[in-house]
Amino acid sequence: PPIADDEKGHDLDLFCVPRHYESDLDKVIIPHGLIMDRTERLARDIIQDMGGHHIVALCVLKGGYKFFADLLDYIKVLNHNSDKSVPLTVDFIRVKSYCNDKSTNSVRVIGGDELSTLSGKDIVETGRTMQTLLSLLSECNPKMVKVVSLLVKRTPRSSGYRPDYIGFEVPDAFLVGYALDYNEYFRDLSHICILNDQAKEKYKV
Ligand code: IMP
Ligand code: MG
Repeated sequence: PPIADDEKGHDLDLFCVPRHYESDLDKVIIPHGLIMDRTERLARDIIQDMGGHHIVALCVLKGGYKFFADLLDYIKVLNHNSDKSVPLTVDFIRVKSYCNDKSTNSVRVIGGDELSTLSGKDIVETGRTMQTLLSLLSECNPKMVKVVSLLVKRTPRSSGYRPDYIGFEVPDAFLVGYALDYNEYFRDLSHICILNDQAKEKYKV
């Protein structure tokens, strides 16, 4: 579902936010509970579509680690409780392209030994990271590759790339929390929030 461009979000003091980040954030855009509810549904859609196939779930670190873990937990619950269950193995890959709130021109990929089917990602902005990764994955000749991204940003910088499964479409703002970072900060925040300009300066490298 889309989060509208003029979405006002929720006041910080309606939720629990770590003290050390209180002055850095403007609004909570996607509360943790909503992330979890949407992820539960994505798990159901994925199992319905992939039913029967063995899945190698590939986590794109670091930003994808929360989403990946929660998505897999929901898939496991479905596997426990339905006739249609899917064998799962996991792998991890690390990519880095960002400095401050801007994409650098290089996408660095580290790790991942058994690359194949399901890839779990934090956010797609231009799509360049995912396209780089997909061309790398295709060298391993997987039977099928499906990309799940919790967030897709509506931005004129987009290459047009769309993941197979999308949690939320979000406005063109810099978001942090739920493992999304700004120079490695804010991964330890449960909700997805908008960073204020003062914080962009404070944590700049
Ligand atoms: P893309 O290659 O332009 O699609 O950028 C995707 C990557 O950029 C993500 O994996 C993140 O690491 C980073 N990124 C893009 N937008 C944001 C944001 O709003 N917050 C945090 N990281 C972001
Ligand atoms: Mg990052």
